[in-house]
Amino acid sequence: MRQFNEDTLTAAVVERFQKAKDERFRQIVTSAVKHLHAFAREVHLTEEEWFEGIKYLTAVGQKCDDKRQEFILLSDILGLSMMIVALNHKTVPGATEATVLGPFFAHGAKEYEYGADLREGASLKGEDVYVSGRVVSLDGQPVANALLDIWQAKADGIYDVQTEGGFELRGRVKANAKGEYAFKSYKPKFYSVPVDGPVGDLIRATGNHHMRPAHMHAIVSAPGYQQVITHVFVEGDPYLDGDAVFAVKDSLIGRYVKVNDAAEAKRLGMPNPFLKLTWDFKLAPDAGVKARKKIAASDAVA
Ligand code: BEZ
Ligand code: FE
Repeated sequence: MRQFNEDTLTAAVVERFQKAKDERFRQIVTSAVKHLHAFAREVHLTEEEWFEGIKYLTAVGQKCDDKRQEFILLSDILGLSMMIVALNHKTVPGATEATVLGPFFAHGAKEYEYGADLREGASLKGEDVYVSGRVVSLDGQPVANALLDIWQAKADGIYDVQTEGGFELRGRVKANAKGEYAFKSYKPKFYSVPVDGPVGDLIRATGNHHMRPAHMHAIVSAPGYQQVITHVFVEGDPYLDGDAVFAVKDSLIGRYVKVNDAAEAKRLGMPNPFLKLTWDFKLAPDAGVKARKKIAASDAVA
């Protein structure tokens, strides 16, 4: 076969890739070829334009290192990360909804018991908040010994892993046998996604803002239950309607309530006044669900 033109080339490439042994890989790679060719045809891509595209993707790769994952950020901004979450995490009614992982998850955070203080060693202060709640099954039964991997930005909107130094406002918090968990932290604030790289150029070129509404991240796992990668957003945040990465779900908006009660503050080991977030995570059972890879301490995500 030779002498291809814009009408025959796609089928020729697809046919060549049929030799791939793995069926799923073959499906993905041939579909990607079909869509890429269709895209080039639709916009009648010029050579100069495609070279700009190649330069752009090269710059995205060059911006990546062991701390910065510009490709995850690109996927987030394009809405592709949330598309993949939507396809793969059809919410079981009643279960906590999944949302984007983002580029700032890190393995190996310290383990904490009930009531832990994630503010310890923090380089910046924020509004003190006592976060507590339960990890429960769909019928409200406590899920014993769940693990909550928690992380959030510092008061300046920067994550610990974006700078030198140790972990901050990050920890693996163990729930107790009754499914209860609690920890002390700071109220999250809205922040900008990193815009000093090619993804920032894309955001500016499309005339959009680069803010994420305030949130804390959580990955909640327990044996026998589906792991959920989720956020808790802050009620009233000005960016809830325009999240740069399309990750907001109404069911994930939490209320930070001001508590002015010296006795309660003393009981919880908080300053008075303080904020309180009460939040339950509801996990769906693992049974009958196609096995999905869970994030574990040994995985390398970013
Ligand atoms: C985050 O929430 O940490 C995040 C998610 C997507 C892009 C940038 C940051
Ligand atoms: Fe975040």
